[in-house]
Amino acid sequence: MSVLIKNGKIVNAESSVEADIFIDGETVTKIAPAIDTPADTVIDAKGKLVIPGGIDVHTHMELPFGGTMSSDDFATGTVAAAHGGTTTIVDFAVQEYGEALPVGVNRWREKAESKVAIDYSLHLIVRDFPQVREADMKELVNEGVTSFKLFMAYPGVFMVDDATIFRALRRSGDDGALICMHAENGGVIDELVKKALGDGLTAPVYHALTRPPEMEAEATGRAIALSEMAGVPIYIVHLSSSHALEKVREARSRGVPAYAETCPQYLFLSEDNYREPGFNGAKYVMSPPLRPKWHQDKLWKGLQDDDLQVVSTDHCPFCMKEGHKGLPIQKELGLDDFSAIPNGAPGVETRLMLLYDGGVRTGRISEQRWVQLVSTAPAKLMGLFPKKGLIAEGSDADIVIWDPNRETEISVKSMHMRCDYNPYEGRKVTGFPEKVLLRGKVVVDDGAFHGKEGSGEFVKRRAHSIKV
Ligand code: URP
Ligand code: ZN
Ligand code: ZN
Repeated sequence: MSVLIKNGKIVNAESSVEADIFIDGETVTKIAPAIDTPADTVIDAKGKLVIPGGIDVHTHMELPFGGTMSSDDFATGTVAAAHGGTTTIVDFAVQEYGEALPVGVNRWREKAESKVAIDYSLHLIVRDFPQVREADMKELVNEGVTSFKLFMAYPGVFMVDDATIFRALRRSGDDGALICMHAENGGVIDELVKKALGDGLTAPVYHALTRPPEMEAEATGRAIALSEMAGVPIYIVHLSSSHALEKVREARSRGVPAYAETCPQYLFLSEDNYREPGFNGAKYVMSPPLRPKWHQDKLWKGLQDDDLQVVSTDHCPFCMKEGHKGLPIQKELGLDDFSAIPNGAPGVETRLMLLYDGGVRTGRISEQRWVQLVSTAPAKLMGLFPKKGLIAEGSDADIVIWDPNRETEISVKSMHMRCDYNPYEGRKVTGFPEKVLLRGKVVVDDGAFHGKEGSGEFVKRRAHSIKV
């Protein structure tokens, strides 16, 4: 099958050009000013932006967490991602305690294989990393799993100590892997949580007040210092605060290869959301938490200055009410105790539109920077480039035809994530993924899904060789 995309404006991170695109099978084979080769499908993209498919390198589909399971599985979550213009995710597999690292990855691949509707890859969350497991890292790198997440938070669940972090960092340098860090000081936070609960402070807002930005900054600085000691790069995930950003900025100004992502929730929502009436604040319980509003400008500045290189979602939805689409109790586990509210929120479907509307249309970032943040830089950092993250001859034909003028209202009613609320409910955004192509096949057309569950491919990522 062949597809010809005509008359569009191709926006890559490095350049924009008005040209046609010819796709033969799954690959872009020609880009030129006027292509008239006959094709099975012709798409007129006049007045539209033609961008590489979104790449979300931080999702949690069917993650067992917080006493329940995140509510999107690989089918519902990836169909939703496609509707939002994302054609590749990198999800987080989990190593059980005492388990060899490849076992966790294989478990996640089994979950994904028959369901996933877009292309995907995996990071692995490492919970313990004794010397006997060190060789596992290389084995996984050879299989295309080239990044590993460590937690400095959640003692007893995911948290690892500094020695483990240091060992994993050193090993990552030998093996061409990248360590992704959840940087919050879990020990201190646990003390603050115990004190708040002891004082009878149980409402969702105390989730934010017991996870202060100073403790995100402390852990971010420590993680970077450990990576410097090990002589390897580091990638800080879901950076939420000005305090933590300062640590990244300072390190980068010295030439340290410290990289970081932020997420739309930290750019568009704030600590005020925790004060919504009743138990509504639980919608926004995630870690790190939403910050006071003034942090948002600092994060936008970080995106402009390239101190933040990526915008991912940390998509990890949990429903507010028991029984939505047959799902068990989730956020309500914490009705009387904020620390029992499962951490996470939906977002995989809304990332591109929020960032286009709130970033490009407001003049904060250019179209090209938008593409870089949501597709090209994540592809480069996570070893997917130039197969993904770029429209060029030879690249996968993962392409979004973006209507820059179409206005929509974000609502749980019209979106596809398996969750009973949307954190941006009622927000009007301009800019819409009109058509989404996955390896040359139109999988979303004007809001209708034409893809197939199980047709997404596992993408082997390259060993790490960063320069973005
Ligand atoms: O609250 C969050 N972020 N939930 C998902 C797990 C994680 O730490 O990324
Ligand atoms: Zn995390
Ligand atoms: Zn996460």
